Amino acid sequence: MAPINEHYLKLKAGYLFPEIGRRVRAFQENNPQAKIIRLGIGDVVRPLPSSVIQSFHAAVDEMGDPKAFRGYGPEQGYPFLIDAILEHDFKARGVTLKSSEIFVSDGSKCDTGNIQEIFGAACRVAVTDPVYPVYVDTQVMAGRTGMIDAQGRYEGLTYLPATEANGFSPDLPKGKIDLIYLCSPNNPTGAVLTRAVLQRWVDYARQNRAVIFFDAAYEAFITDPAIPHSIYEIAGAEEVAIEFRSFSKTAGFTGTRCAYLVVPEALKGEDASGNPVSINALWHRRHTTKFNGVSYPVQRAAAACYSPEGKIQVQETVAYYLENARLIRAGLAQAGFSVSGGVNAPYLWVKTPKGLDSWGTFDKILSEAHVVITPGSGFGPAGEGFFRISAFGLREDVVEAVTRLSAVSFVP
Ligand code: MLT
Repeated sequence: MAPINEHYLKLKAGYLFPEIGRRVRAFQENNPQAKIIRLGIGDVVRPLPSSVIQSFHAAVDEMGDPKAFRGYGPEQGYPFLIDAILEHDFKARGVTLKSSEIFVSDGSKCDTGNIQEIFGAACRVAVTDPVYPVYVDTQVMAGRTGMIDAQGRYEGLTYLPATEANGFSPDLPKGKIDLIYLCSPNNPTGAVLTRAVLQRWVDYARQNRAVIFFDAAYEAFITDPAIPHSIYEIAGAEEVAIEFRSFSKTAGFTGTRCAYLVVPEALKGEDASGNPVSINALWHRRHTTKFNGVSYPVQRAAAACYSPEGKIQVQETVAYYLENARLIRAGLAQAGFSVSGGVNAPYLWVKTPKGLDSWGTFDKILSEAHVVITPGSGFGPAGEGFFRISAFGLREDVVEAVTRLSAVSFVP
């Protein structure tokens, strides 16, 4: 028999969301009459905007026309989409990037998971805690960690706690780190990194020759004009940061799949002899070897998000989810919960009621309110004592979920 990658055996039994799905299915089988409201996984519910659908349809028609048909496209993405990204996501915010620095992909989950491949096995990696599990699990798969301990921390990874005490904005690492994952607006806490805080991270990375993986998949939900949407709004970031963006949560592409990452040409790593190596060139090599590009109709659909109507429609969708977040925040606060997030983000981070841990709260809320939330401990040890609610729901479901959650009796 072929030997397997032993590092996979170190992984916790299941990925968080399938485990939640398993518990919800079991509950539904035993309670077929229960009308379950799902505010667990951050999956969108609103349909694709009409301008996106029109472009999508037109591009599918082109694929059926012998004169317009396209086979393989450029692996990095079609220029029409890359140009729109450069213009609307960056130039409009005073950031100048080159088209060679954008790599269109099929999702930020894949990108944030795959990016570590082009870095050395000995890299010291820091993650915030709680954290999007993909950042951690892919480090485990790559062999950069030891075993998981009783608290749920993998040996060899540096965990930077995001707690109530630090306003869910983790402190800088104490020692030298090579790779750092940051996510703002944050999944799961809904917290945002201010300009001053991001500047400190960029300065740390420059002093320590570290690379920041900046997950900005939720940037469209920022309502505070003082909060940066891109790490490249921070001086010097182009020398130390890779940024991840997605069409999933803004334009409803979770099932359609389109995202991109930015790998600046100024960003360098080093080889074993200490010679600088272009990270952009390495990622280009990796991307063009392992990926054949996002389909042409999907890229046309994504580009429509930047048309005048598309922009308005995407803003409407974002505003809809933000209003959900406001309703959840206000309703739960009224019911006595301690709630943060949900102002510049589609996620709310809620303290578990007295006497209940994260999974205990999940089970009680599922069984008594028939609402699915996400247990905070699923995002890391510092998530224990919290749960996450996603604002990606239909308005009537969100309103109903708040009513039901307010009615659950927790131990005072
Ligand atoms: C989440 O619920 O954390 C997200 O749906 C994860 C993802 O986007 O992959």
